[in-house]
Amino acid sequence: MASITPLSTTNAATISATSTTNISNPLFPKTSQLSIPKCRKSHLPTRKISCSAAKNDDQNPRSNTHDGNANNKLDRRNMLIGLGGLYGAATNLGGAPASFAAPIATPDLSKCEPADLPSNAIDRSNCCPPVATNIIDYTPSASSTLRVRPPAHAVDATYLAKFNKAIAAMKALPSTDPRSFIQQARVHCAYCDGGYNQVGFPNLDLQVHGSWLFLPFHRYYLYFFERILGSLINDPTFAIPFWNWDHPDGMKMPSIYTNTSSPLYDRRRDAAHQPPTVIDLNYDGSDDSTSDNALINANLTVMYQQIVRNASTPRLFLGQPYRAGDASPGGSGSLENVPHGPVHVWTGDRNQPNNEDMGTFYTAAKDPIFYAHHANVDRMWSVWKSRRSNPTAPEFTDTDWLNASFIFYDENKQAVRVRVKDCLDTKKLGYTYQNVDLPWLNSRPTSRASRVTTLSSTIPKTANAAKPPSKPSSSSNVTFPKRLDSAITIDVKRPKKSRSKKEKKGEEEVLVVEIEIQRDVHVNFDVFVNDEDDVPSKKNRAFVEHVGSFVNVPHHQHRNNEHGKKMKTFFRVGLNEAIEDLGADDDEGITVTLVPRTGGDAVVIKGLKIEFDY
Ligand code: C2O
Repeated sequence: MASITPLSTTNAATISATSTTNISNPLFPKTSQLSIPKCRKSHLPTRKISCSAAKNDDQNPRSNTHDGNANNKLDRRNMLIGLGGLYGAATNLGGAPASFAAPIATPDLSKCEPADLPSNAIDRSNCCPPVATNIIDYTPSASSTLRVRPPAHAVDATYLAKFNKAIAAMKALPSTDPRSFIQQARVHCAYCDGGYNQVGFPNLDLQVHGSWLFLPFHRYYLYFFERILGSLINDPTFAIPFWNWDHPDGMKMPSIYTNTSSPLYDRRRDAAHQPPTVIDLNYDGSDDSTSDNALINANLTVMYQQIVRNASTPRLFLGQPYRAGDASPGGSGSLENVPHGPVHVWTGDRNQPNNEDMGTFYTAAKDPIFYAHHANVDRMWSVWKSRRSNPTAPEFTDTDWLNASFIFYDENKQAVRVRVKDCLDTKKLGYTYQNVDLPWLNSRPTSRASRVTTLSSTIPKTANAAKPPSKPSSSSNVTFPKRLDSAITIDVKRPKKSRSKKEKKGEEEVLVVEIEIQRDVHVNFDVFVNDEDDVPSKKNRAFVEHVGSFVNVPHHQHRNNEHGKKMKTFFRVGLNEAIEDLGADDDEGITVTLVPRTGGDAVVIKGLKIEFDY
């Protein structure tokens, strides 16, 4: 393991206090410190401008050499603040100092603590795995036959019989066996609900969601799950199915999971979402009365938005850095936010106290459908990667990502330590996905403004405003931090405008929303840019003005809890394509509207700004 430099509290204490302004809002200067730019588009209603941080040259990713390092300084600064230290002269503004090399390390299984469960949890069993006496370093080696993961809705009877047999065998293992279904489910609970601390940082939780660790962790998790199943039925080519929710044919709960006498069945699922109900990939807790076709099209737009438009850089797609010593993960990537989060919540049983099983992380993996859901998440990673200009290059060259490690139990009950850098090519892990069409590649949304003009009979503007979820804030007095209990509209200044094609190609303009949320609450809020409505309705999500949605799937933690159950994070969306489609390339700023769909009371917006990522 690379050296970890624990933060010295002495060091923090000796830094003389900077102004409280900097401490309370490190990234975003107070609006009062900023000059008011002229960034109104003439066709939009006039609102008072409260643009954020225009001068952030020291935060420009280009000042760093490695993909993932760009935000290192920001994270470090947050970490110092999160730990009660003060950010000051000791921090190197030039980038990531070598002494900070700090990949998240394998947890110490012997220090696993009972997870922090909701007070009304329906299952209070301990999530800790058996303590390993001997942990070996594990490097996957390519096998001669690839396991080919099939779409769950299209498997044949022979496959289904095998799969049922394997899951039944796993469920039949004694609960003390690390390969048993219950132990497998608990892996997720321990890694996601505060079972482990970070080695060297006993006061900090280890969390595998909300950062660049999300995709690699879950890839390994499924890898071992699949190998255990294969070994239980003596079939080394056995491959788990994926829930093909990105294709119209797969946009419902796969029926193999809904047969009540199958080992794939779980009774804690939403009764109103049984097949043939079409899934809503941006489900926010309420079922909208809309036609199946409209929902399918909306889903295809969501896919395009999250895998193409909001995924132009590795950090936007996979998530932000998270290193040893960081109090919180740096922020989810596009795929983790949506549709990963909404599919969890849509599947969970709304009649359980915490939307168990799928709707909350501590029980999610107790539903066999979890693994099919995550297989498709993992498949989307492969799809995204195959579309990169250099598909074999690692996503990040940052060693804090490449060397981050996890522990799992393999099919021989052996505890193994695996590293992120060894899971970047699924063929080397011995599996691939059956080829299926990607219809969403063609689902680039159009601008609402242009549709209103040309198709005014089909999309009447007033219809969208008919059921506003909340009243718009009076933007003339928007000051941050501000609770998102109603919509917030604010103008944000763009650091650069009228960029050349070449500039835009190499550099994504990114809207950054700094937030603090209650981590145990289901949150879904929409972000619109230059939408003409004061409070854009959910129908407006179909258009390019909707640049993304932030989602939190409830989970718990008990360490680094200085603010109770609060979690600071950042929501980022890529703007290049939206700004182009909105014809806003030459504008000084954009008008951003944040609309809470659920859980807005649990969200505090701390600031917004635009930065660049490449
Ligand atoms: Cu670890 Cu879908 O969550």
